[in-house]
Amino acid sequence: MRLLSLALLATLAVASPHRKADLAGCVAAVFGDSAPKRIVAPTNETYLDARLGEKIQDEQLPVLIAYADDAEEIAPLIQCAQAAGVKAVPRTGGHSFEAYSSLNGTLVIDIAHINQVRVSDDHKSAVVGAGIRLGALYTALNEYDTTFIGGICPTVGLAGFLGSGGFNMQQRSQGLGVEHVLAAKVVLADGTTVEASPETNSDLFWAIRGGGGGSYGIAVEFTLSLTAIPRSALVLLTWNDTESRFPASQRYLDWAPKQVPEFMSQINVYRDTVQVLGWHYGGTEEELTALVETSGLLDIGTPEVIISGNCNTDNARIFGYTTTECQPDEEVDASILNVIPDPFTQVGDSPQFQWNEDPKSDSIPVAFPWERFYRLSKSFFVLKDRPLTDEVLQSLLDRIASLDEESEVWGEWHAWNITVPSKSDHAFAWRDQAYAHLEFQVHGAPDDAERQEAYEEWFADLESYLRPEVGVASYSGYVDADISTDPLESYYGDNVAELVAVKKKYDPEEFFTNPLAIKA
Ligand SMILES: Cc1cc2nc3c(=O)[nH]c(=O)nc-3n(C[C@H](O)[C@H](O)[C@H](O)COP(=O)(O)OP(=O)(O)OC[C@H]3O[C@@H](n4cnc5c(N)ncnc54)[C@H](O)[C@@H]3O)c2cc1C
Ligand SMILES: *[C@@H]1O[C@H](CO)[C@@H](O)[C@H](O)[C@H]1NC(C)=O
Ligand SMILES: *[C@@H]1O[C@H](CO)[C@@H](O)[C@H](O)[C@H]1NC(C)=O
Ligand SMILES: *[C@@H]1O[C@H](CO)[C@@H](O)[C@H](O)[C@H]1NC(C)=O
Ligand SMILES: *[C@@H]1O[C@H](CO)[C@@H](O)[C@H](O)[C@H]1NC(C)=O
Repeated sequence: MRLLSLALLATLAVASPHRKADLAGCVAAVFGDSAPKRIVAPTNETYLDARLGEKIQDEQLPVLIAYADDAEEIAPLIQCAQAAGVKAVPRTGGHSFEAYSSLNGTLVIDIAHINQVRVSDDHKSAVVGAGIRLGALYTALNEYDTTFIGGICPTVGLAGFLGSGGFNMQQRSQGLGVEHVLAAKVVLADGTTVEASPETNSDLFWAIRGGGGGSYGIAVEFTLSLTAIPRSALVLLTWNDTESRFPASQRYLDWAPKQVPEFMSQINVYRDTVQVLGWHYGGTEEELTALVETSGLLDIGTPEVIISGNCNTDNARIFGYTTTECQPDEEVDASILNVIPDPFTQVGDSPQFQWNEDPKSDSIPVAFPWERFYRLSKSFFVLKDRPLTDEVLQSLLDRIASLDEESEVWGEWHAWNITVPSKSDHAFAWRDQAYAHLEFQVHGAPDDAERQEAYEEWFADLESYLRPEVGVASYSGYVDADISTDPLESYYGDNVAELVAVKKKYDPEEFFTNPLAIKA
């Protein structure tokens, strides 16, 4: 009887406002004088903005959001959460497709301000704060005429990107983002900060690179291997007519993944148009023109053809975003990369959280705010031993064409077939097998139940149709709560058992978790 009531008391204590007040007090003590500027509770007018990442959603309501700006603050923040009986969730770029970096009832530890960049004397490596966004990283490294083999979207956070594996527009010759990491520092649930590298805690180092974010500890620092990207040529082919969608997509998927490793590309499939975007790493305009001429793509319909050479790295990164040509270096406007720690657009008239929003470059404009939206999405890998049939491709195009214009539906399909040897051993499961990655995106309609339901049905249909055709493989960076498979098998393939062993060793109590994370 006595035991029971104690248990009951303990349960009540966890949920009581008193404990939550203690949490805020504890976090304030960690942050000192600047605490009022960088702690956001549900009662603050900036709460909506602060709890949202890129995805607009109403399900995840954290208890408190704490903006750290020093790796030393992370362990005490974890202890605050534990003392208050809540979980802590790390957030870097806030791009999780299911908002798993801002979970209900948790303390969100936002590390976007932990973004320092220290480049080594020989410019071959850099020690960087794990919270940096990719665009800010590229901007900081520009000063040293070098860069990191990273992803496409400038606002994506480094730690989340590396937790998933890190695909990028150089990967067919340079490998995944995780292959360019030399070491990391990780704060564990017990408050210790450990080194993770090929020599020290090599199992943890393996797991945090591709084994899923938010699971083993909070990465606070990465040592990155840097690469100066050579001048490159880029191509953009656009078909404006509905009839070319099928032949162009079919030709593209058969051709692009088989080309030289220096050529990396994607096809964007819309309701009535398609567009191919390719980056020939280190290639010239002549070489790329010859490559495109052998593709057969130019014989289909009447595409608009742009092939441009001598692009510097910034120009290549913004090609397709804010420019579609290679400009003289001094005319390249790379401000879209100069992102601040809190880079998103305002939602309605909700006040935005702002604190020390310093860009990495003071000499170019700050990036325009990155659009937030109510994202619906799915990810499928096509594996080398199971090519898409024409019938399935036709069905995918028809499905995309069947949605309304407001959905802004698009398919973003990347050529994979990475054949260069991996630069390191990591936990991303599909590197050797992936032939292409198919991503589908829709802008949801949270204020229009009928449309929203139609979109959700469309995705459910897509899953039940395409999954048996392509198999289980999906990208954990596009985490999908409605996946029809065993999600761990889909995201981590044959690595699941080994990842579970790492989880048991470094976080046996499952302090760090989310609905689709590896469990102890
Ligand atoms: C517009 C857009 C473009 C994209 N382009 C690419 C691309 O080119 N290549 C690619 O590979 N992916 C791409 N992605 C996917 C992206 O890499 C993943 O969604 C990634 O997980 C986002 O990381 P984040 O830090 O921004 O997100 P967050 O939401 O902050 O984090 C994602 C997950 O990682 C966890 N996490 C965050 N910080 C840490 C930390 N410090 N330590 C441990 N766990 C942590 C979170 O708890 C969460 O579970 C893109 C996504 C979007 C929205
Ligand atoms: C949140 O509200 C508290 C109490 O009013 C206030 O002290 C604090 O400054 C607010 N936080 C931010 C980031 O504005
Ligand atoms: C979030 O937590 C609140 C309070 O504990 C609860 O009422 C609500 O149902 C939770 N929402 C979800 C989506 O779990
Ligand atoms: C594509 O179609 C639009 C509208 O029909 C038209 O304005 C545009 O000029 C076309 N572009 C090309 C390259 O054909
Ligand atoms: C992968 O690309 C290489 C060229 O880089 C090509 O020879 C090979 O056939 C491709 N593999 C598949 C499965 O298409």
